[in-house]
Amino acid sequence: VSAILDLRSEAESFVIEGTFPALDPRERALVEETWRGRMVNEHISAQVFAGLVPQAMRAAIPHAFLVELAEMVGDELDHARRCAGVLHALGGDPRAPLPELRKLPEHATASPLGALLRNVISVSCMSETVAVALIQAERIDLGGSPAAKVLGSILGDEVRHARFGWKLIEELAPLSNPVREEVGAYLPVALAHLVAHELDHLSPAPPPTKRAAQCGACDGQNARLILFQTIETVIVPGLERFGLPARGSWQEARKLLRSGAARAMTAA
Ligand SMILES: [Fe+2]
Ligand SMILES: [Fe+2]
Repeated sequence: VSAILDLRSEAESFVIEGTFPALDPRERALVEETWRGRMVNEHISAQVFAGLVPQAMRAAIPHAFLVELAEMVGDELDHARRCAGVLHALGGDPRAPLPELRKLPEHATASPLGALLRNVISVSCMSETVAVALIQAERIDLGGSPAAKVLGSILGDEVRHARFGWKLIEELAPLSNPVREEVGAYLPVALAHLVAHELDHLSPAPPPTKRAAQCGACDGQNARLILFQTIETVIVPGLERFGLPARGSWQEARKLLRSGAARAMTAA
């Protein structure tokens, strides 16, 4: 039996300034589903960062980075609360079944640092970097709606979460050859997983109406483009700067995606 994420009392105490445009039932359903999905994803992100803490301890990274990891756990829980607040303000019910929480890969055959970097790159340099680009794009459609303020406050944190990974690699650079190889060997899987996971969450429906977009519903087609652009113009060159074979890995990842192997990975 899956747990229920219930943020009703947190949502009630979260003050949203301003009023949302009136929505018809279809728009309302789409918007509520969007914010409920966000609420759940943010909540789950907390356990991802929490999972990185023991790995980071084993890899003996500088203390300040451990502190930051712990803070990010709190940030994500707070994002879930904010999303619940918007959902409540829209008249929705901030409760949802919690999907099964998956543990981070342990990478038992890699060194402690190689294992940590594999996961930090996947979480921070990939997922969070894409999140920043997507949220930034969505905010443009929000106009002056109350959702803009909430997404803006979340965006500030997501920028830090993305920077965390890039800063950590920079701190540890130059990476030793064995660590670079351990990390490099995982990049195709991490990139394929990123794409499969994001596409799973993007709406295949046509762009939302202007009113629904102002309440936070997103345009899946546009998000798709942003996902690929971010990989090709930010993530791949960013990793290449540290001598990681990201360009070749991206080719490999596309092969994995075409073969359907990546989809099987996310379902596993
Ligand atoms: Fe978040
Ligand atoms: Fe985040």
